Amino acid sequence: MSPAFSAEVLPTRTPRAFQTAVRRAAELLRAGEVVALPTETVYGLAANAMNAAAVEHIFEIKGRPAHNPIIVHVASVEMARQCVARWPAIAGKLARAFWPGPLTLVLPRAKEIPEVVTAGGPTVGVRWPNHPFIQAVLCECGFPLAAPSANLSNQISPTTAAHVRKHLGGKIPLIVDGGRSQVGIESAVLDLSVSPPRLLRPGMIHEPALLVITGELASGSGDSQGLLKSPGQLRKHYAPKAKLVLWSWHDEAALNAQISRLKVRSCKIHVIAHTRIPSGSRFSAVSVIPHDVAGFARAIYAELHQCDEAGADLIVVEALPETAEWRALADRLRRAAAG
Ligand code: TXA
Ligand code: MG
Repeated sequence: MSPAFSAEVLPTRTPRAFQTAVRRAAELLRAGEVVALPTETVYGLAANAMNAAAVEHIFEIKGRPAHNPIIVHVASVEMARQCVARWPAIAGKLARAFWPGPLTLVLPRAKEIPEVVTAGGPTVGVRWPNHPFIQAVLCECGFPLAAPSANLSNQISPTTAAHVRKHLGGKIPLIVDGGRSQVGIESAVLDLSVSPPRLLRPGMIHEPALLVITGELASGSGDSQGLLKSPGQLRKHYAPKAKLVLWSWHDEAALNAQISRLKVRSCKIHVIAHTRIPSGSRFSAVSVIPHDVAGFARAIYAELHQCDEAGADLIVVEALPETAEWRALADRLRRAAAG
């Protein structure tokens, strides 16, 4: 059993607080501890990627299955190259176009990367995150950081320090508060160990943008190969406690009719709308979130956390546009709705 903690939450809003938090995080990471750090996508649960015991501890804390590999975070292309056995030209081009940013590149692993990080597999996912705090910690430590999202396995990723604290506050010594995650959903995971490159998990850097650089792209999610290669693409994942449905409606009467057809009685219904806003008379809560794709991504996980917090039984999310830029959000909500 891991010892019980009451996580210290350190702010980063002033230069002095930022520096204090960098030093504290680096000190704990050097000592082989696991700490929660902000990234631009979602909060990460970080450990020294070169320390197998520290990485094993991440699996324990999250209740993560041992077959699910962890992304290694770096603060330069040079650091990324040290984690991999090959750095093909396409990796260099993608890194120039999108790093630092929400794109993970899967490549043959360097032998120095412990097996626990790659779940025993031949490849490693590397990402240079675009958040000044984790970048400063990486520079201070000098080693790469293995970091999955800072939530219990299969639950919604955290986009604030408070989300992390609620779920993991008793299991880790430190949570660094770097503000709301600016992107709001997890990185795109692109497998460069196969040809053509295969998109294992869609992200806010969408397929048309990746295609400009790669020329070709196999779509990974949905088929059996993709599922095996990226366990995070299991059908049910990123799930709130409540049942979640994705519906469109013309007006409130149509929405009410759909709810009636579900035959649920006296349950707490939370509606998350972006375009057609119901009045809310029969719902326990109605949230309006932005209908531009970046704003929606930034807000959606906090809304789902809020639904869990409020004890919602049913979450009705207004259906999304069916264009390429919304695909990653459609993917996450489909998984949240599964099961
Ligand atoms: O934005 C993100 O990617 C966040 C932040 C913290 O960087 N991290 C994150 O990690 O979402 P995690 O562990 O929650 O999701 C990582 C996904 C999983 O679906 C995992 O299976 C896949 O990436 N993955 C990691 N390494 C892989 C590899 N070598 N081959 C295939 N898939 C890999
Ligand atoms: Mg995750």
